[in-house]
Amino acid sequence: MRAIITAGGVGARLGEDKALALLGERTIVERLVERYRAAGVEDVVVVRRTGAAELPPLDARVFVCDPPEMIDSVRAGLAAIGEHDWFVVHPVDYALAADDVADRLVRFCADTAAEIVVSECFGRRGHPLALRAELAAEVLDATTESLRDVVRRDPERVVGLPVTNPWILRDIDEPCDLVAARAFVERPVEPVASLMRRHRSRRRFRPETVPDAQLEWIVDSARYAATSSMMQAYAVVAVRDAGRRDRIATLCADQRHVREAPVFLAVCADLHKIELACARHAATIHADSLDVFLQAVIDAAIFGQNIQLAAESEGLGGCMIGAARNHPVELAELLELPAHVVVAFGMALGWPADDPVPRGRMPLGAVLHDERYDADRLAADLDAADAGMRAWARETNATQGGYGGREVNEERGWTDRMARLWGAEVPEKGRADLVAALRQLGFGLRTD
Ligand SMILES: Cc1cc2nc3c(=O)[nH]c(=O)nc-3n(C[C@H](O)[C@H](O)[C@H](O)COP(=O)(O)O)c2cc1C
Repeated sequence: MRAIITAGGVGARLGEDKALALLGERTIVERLVERYRAAGVEDVVVVRRTGAAELPPLDARVFVCDPPEMIDSVRAGLAAIGEHDWFVVHPVDYALAADDVADRLVRFCADTAAEIVVSECFGRRGHPLALRAELAAEVLDATTESLRDVVRRDPERVVGLPVTNPWILRDIDEPCDLVAARAFVERPVEPVASLMRRHRSRRRFRPETVPDAQLEWIVDSARYAATSSMMQAYAVVAVRDAGRRDRIATLCADQRHVREAPVFLAVCADLHKIELACARHAATIHADSLDVFLQAVIDAAIFGQNIQLAAESEGLGGCMIGAARNHPVELAELLELPAHVVVAFGMALGWPADDPVPRGRMPLGAVLHDERYDADRLAADLDAADAGMRAWARETNATQGGYGGREVNEERGWTDRMARLWGAEVPEKGRADLVAALRQLGFGLRTD
């Protein structure tokens, strides 16, 4: 097995040479070469363009090729490698795609009867790919315009290598891709429960956006959440346009983090698809039912939590936005939601630039009951919740200079805050006309 790493691009959109960009302590090209050498690949060839900066010392041979089309780089690599059975083509853009994959690719190729092996993550094909030596002639043929031509020519000779590394689908193209790759490399590899316990809502963000491919991966993963009767009554509208985010922020109580986050996700309870399904079978959706509405909202909530958790697992951070229900009809219009779809909550998402004091939670005993609900122990737990909230306020004032730009009242515990928020004596804020708005959006909320 030989490997050809194509590294001929200038990295114009990234603003730097991809091969030399740092991921952790090492450059991308060093990382890739090491992965292939560690997997037992005997000869690794890196193809550069004329005039490209010198690479650090590598356990690989470096060749220069012009013009720097991908296929030309592969041809130059083929000319450089000696006798071989298979050759892997790995564009340097797929900086993390060799992790766990190089090793599996080498072992898989040793066993397969196929002629082309393409790495595949949950059914989607990406990079790298490996080809049998006999296919070199097709690659070298002047009528072949791209490697894709060779792969597509005869599907019978291609097989997918299933891997779980999402980076086989994600290239490093823009600065935000590099931010994502670095966050991925630096993230702690930890059990999901530990990730959950590290959760904090994040409200300040770096300027780089969330790469499209990353957002797609996150939502694609989140949609495997459990769903009532397979309804999948959720949808999400991702808003990146600054002008639209600004209008959304205005509708969401003017929250600064909604305005500043590079992405706003409108997580929707969506019965429109059920309506379409009914229409196909001469039925009418029962969208007037309170229970169906609740099912859609529960589906959306579980889906949204999955999004947040998947995002946090990649080093992103965000804040759910209940204020997205302050003006549901106006928000629905802005997002062009069809009937029977409402934004259940929003999410401001991006690369965190804050370091908030974790808010902790009330004692477990107030949440986990054994066989029957034990109301007797709640008084002590509520005292503890009060103390926890005051401690959080003190630490937030001391270390962050307050919360959202304002000093937090250190006297107020959890119970007094809840009473101020939810006590019937306090005039209802903002959402008094929610029922009317929901009915306008096509949810009858009927209980009979
Ligand atoms: C459905 C939902 C709606 C929320 N709405 C808002 C909001 O509009 N603005 C905001 O700043 N935080 C909002 N939050 C975040 C909560 O304030 C936050 O989760 C809570 O204070 C606990 O803090 P933590 O998430 O950092 O642990 C919301 C959270 C949830 C789950």
